[in-house]
Amino acid sequence: MAAAAPLSSRLARAGAQAALLLALVLLACQALAAPEGGARRLAKHKQGAVADPSGGAATAAAPGAEVSAAGCCAQLPAGFSSTRPVVVISTQGAPLSSIPKPQIETGVKAKIPASVCTCRSPDGQDFGAPIQFSERGSHSEDWDQVRSYSVDLSPSHSFLGMPKGSSWALYGWQNDTGGLHDWFGFELYRWTGNYAPRTQYCELFLTDGLQPLRYPSDDYLGLYLAMEHLGQGKHRVDIKKDSAADSGANSSYILDNEHGKTKQGLVELPPLPFSKIQYMIEYPSKPSQDQQGYILGYLRQFEDVLFGPSFADPAAGWRQLANQTNALDYFLFEELVKSNNNGYRGSQRLTKDAGGPLLFGPPWDTNDGFGQCCGFPVEGYQNGGQSNGTSGGSAISPQGWSFTICEQQERCVQDPMGGVALWYRRMWQDPAFRAAAAQRFAQLRGGVWTDAAIGQAVTSIAATIHDALLRTFQRWPVDLLNPYAPPQPTPGETAGVMQREAQIQATVGKLIQWTTTRLAWMADQFASIALGGAGGSTLQLPPSVVAAGASTATASSAAAPAAVAATGNAPAAAPASGPGNPSPVSSFASGPGTVALLG
Ligand SMILES: *[C@@H]1O[C@H](CO)[C@@H](O)[C@H](O)[C@H]1NC(C)=O
Ligand SMILES: *[C@@H]1O[C@H](CO)[C@@H](O)[C@H](O)[C@H]1NC(C)=O
Ligand SMILES: *[C@@H]1O[C@H](CO)[C@@H](O)[C@H](O)[C@H]1NC(C)=O
Ligand SMILES: *[C@@H]1O[C@H](CO)[C@@H](O)[C@H](O)[C@H]1NC(C)=O
Repeated sequence: MAAAAPLSSRLARAGAQAALLLALVLLACQALAAPEGGARRLAKHKQGAVADPSGGAATAAAPGAEVSAAGCCAQLPAGFSSTRPVVVISTQGAPLSSIPKPQIETGVKAKIPASVCTCRSPDGQDFGAPIQFSERGSHSEDWDQVRSYSVDLSPSHSFLGMPKGSSWALYGWQNDTGGLHDWFGFELYRWTGNYAPRTQYCELFLTDGLQPLRYPSDDYLGLYLAMEHLGQGKHRVDIKKDSAADSGANSSYILDNEHGKTKQGLVELPPLPFSKIQYMIEYPSKPSQDQQGYILGYLRQFEDVLFGPSFADPAAGWRQLANQTNALDYFLFEELVKSNNNGYRGSQRLTKDAGGPLLFGPPWDTNDGFGQCCGFPVEGYQNGGQSNGTSGGSAISPQGWSFTICEQQERCVQDPMGGVALWYRRMWQDPAFRAAAAQRFAQLRGGVWTDAAIGQAVTSIAATIHDALLRTFQRWPVDLLNPYAPPQPTPGETAGVMQREAQIQATVGKLIQWTTTRLAWMADQFASIALGGAGGSTLQLPPSVVAAGASTATASSAAAPAAVAATGNAPAAAPASGPGNPSPVSSFASGPGTVALLG
């Protein structure tokens, strides 16, 4: 927080200077944009005439004039026409270069004031409101044209028909020609009955508000996927809201593992004894020492039990601490989409409701899934993600498990454990877990994950975004949107439109084909499991993990499972110390340098 203050105030000052030029307009705007009661009001922050797309008379607005949310549609430029919802964001006079960069890159959580309005919201509830605004996600500098954004609404508001919430992402898809992967990943997970962020396709204009909206370049940014940010809430991660009175066991948690990346302001837990994962506590946002100690103790106990001798015991094993049904759904989903191993180590979350078991997910980032890319940092990912498939195949092949890739250790040099893939390798050693996985897979495959459901969902969403995709390809170079498959001009083809059309068709076809091929491959593996096989795994763990598990067993084999059995889902406040569990919670909570409050 301390680091964020100077930058955000610098940005605020930059914005204020620009705003001076428009002082009257903006002051009026800020005041009017504050939603009040029933009808939300959109502040008009542009002077002069604005083209009316309906072909009617141009609307002339006096500086600072107040318009209803319907004004959002009225500002859309002549020549632009869409049936999709449209979102217009204005930085209200501040230069677009002042929009703060993603927190994950800069380590700084900064936002600037801006405004949003919607046109043709699916629920008919267009609105305009002030927001806090920044870029989000991560991208490299040479990959910086299609950006993603964060939109914070206060008070919370429904957005494009999605339930009321304050924190939203506008996802500018990359490396995903059809823009379908995040949408589809979340759909597939939601179909299992678990929460995944809701999404809504829209077209985005981003302006500094100093002139009428420009199209087809400049202010027009093309097709975006609006989505719910992960967070606690009745319509999001439905866990108990943290209250000041809560501590430790009475709290609920959202934990984030971004493969060593850190987020400013979040408490980062020390590495777990076996997987070495370092979780950041996303919720509660300011966890007390007691809460930090509790959740770390819970995770350590989970790993001790999972890698200990009684891990498979229905009463004393890991199932006492985590929910098997949910663990299976997350696992089957992650294997189905093969999201570049993100779901295991790069963008992986756990949640825990007060008094409840550990839950996997929700998922995030499936843009690299469905055969798109490439398995970083697994060895072999560079060659188009191809591997000879001796352990788990590649990240782009519809064959091969993802969670077993690190069974071949030379493929996982940078990240030998592979995040929670290690947990799943351990669970998989238990024939009862494999049988339960086969059973759950059969249920999903026979119910929601059918070829027909997949083909139907992808085909119909593709039809609804088709025209917006063509406009997006006009806005951005097509090869930028998919560096892995730059478009090859067909001989005799003159217009880019034909080529783009062909590319959309190919992308939609490939997504359906890849997903159904993957499901068929998984079905084959589970058929072999039904015959008593190991389903393509060697069932081996890294020697260091086996050794640590064995010494945990000698140190705490009696203590840990007994403690679990005695306390149900609540771990002992200070779990047994042992070789696999070096420091007890009390020293963690008070010891210097063990809790990194980042920034
Ligand atoms: C997209 O592909 C480029 C080029 O290979 C890569 O550098 C970049 O990290 C990828 N972006 C995402 C979001 O995967
Ligand atoms: C949790 O809450 C209950 C009442 O709801 C209370 O009796 C108990 O002491 C609390 N436990 C902790 C560890 O805060
Ligand atoms: C366990 O997970 C399943 C599937 O996600 C869910 O329906 C169930 O409510 C969960 N139970 C608990 C106690 O969290
Ligand atoms: C398969 O890949 C592994 C690791 O990438 C390599 O060590 C091995 O030699 C390869 N085998 C063949 C037959 O190419």
